[in-house]
Amino acid sequence: MEAMGDREEKQSTAKSLKQESGINQMEMAHADAIAAHPLWRKSVVCITQLEASREFCRHDVTHFLDVARLAWIENLERGLGVSKEEIYAAALLHDIGRHLQYEKGIPHDEASVQLGGQILSDCGFSADAKKRILEAIGGHRNKDTKTRDDLCGLIYRADKGSRMCLLCQAEKACNWSEEKKNRHIR
Ligand SMILES: [Fe+2]
Repeated sequence: MEAMGDREEKQSTAKSLKQESGINQMEMAHADAIAAHPLWRKSVVCITQLEASREFCRHDVTHFLDVARLAWIENLERGLGVSKEEIYAAALLHDIGRHLQYEKGIPHDEASVQLGGQILSDCGFSADAKKRILEAIGGHRNKDTKTRDDLCGLIYRADKGSRMCLLCQAEKACNWSEEKKNRHIR
């Protein structure tokens, strides 16, 4: 449980951010809570350690935020009306179970749903939001979600679109299909 003093401090930081930049950080309070969650942070460190010598794409915070921002841009450009906080939550969590794939052989979409469910419950998301976010996390490797105009489709496309296959030294050895590989600047 978050202490009252911590919550007040976060709210006051969010308020001053809004005053300084015009950005309403209050809208993102739950997404901020994910990035402060000990299980999320521990998983990020574990993934970084396990991928230290990986030649293919890594699954770090830069990737998570690339996915969030690409999905948010598409959502704005196409007027899809998906919540910013749900987009950022799904992006921050979609690969968070990667270390369990490396360590225990659990497919990372499933592992991310497990860890994500726990984290979302602790971070104040509503039951409906949690359901939508977990569906997007669980479906981010399923090409059936590719053309959907909802959170699932946004996360699927942003995940693939975030990878710079056109500039990648390991592209020839990568097991991604030609269809998945991104050869465009986004
Ligand atoms: Fe990803």
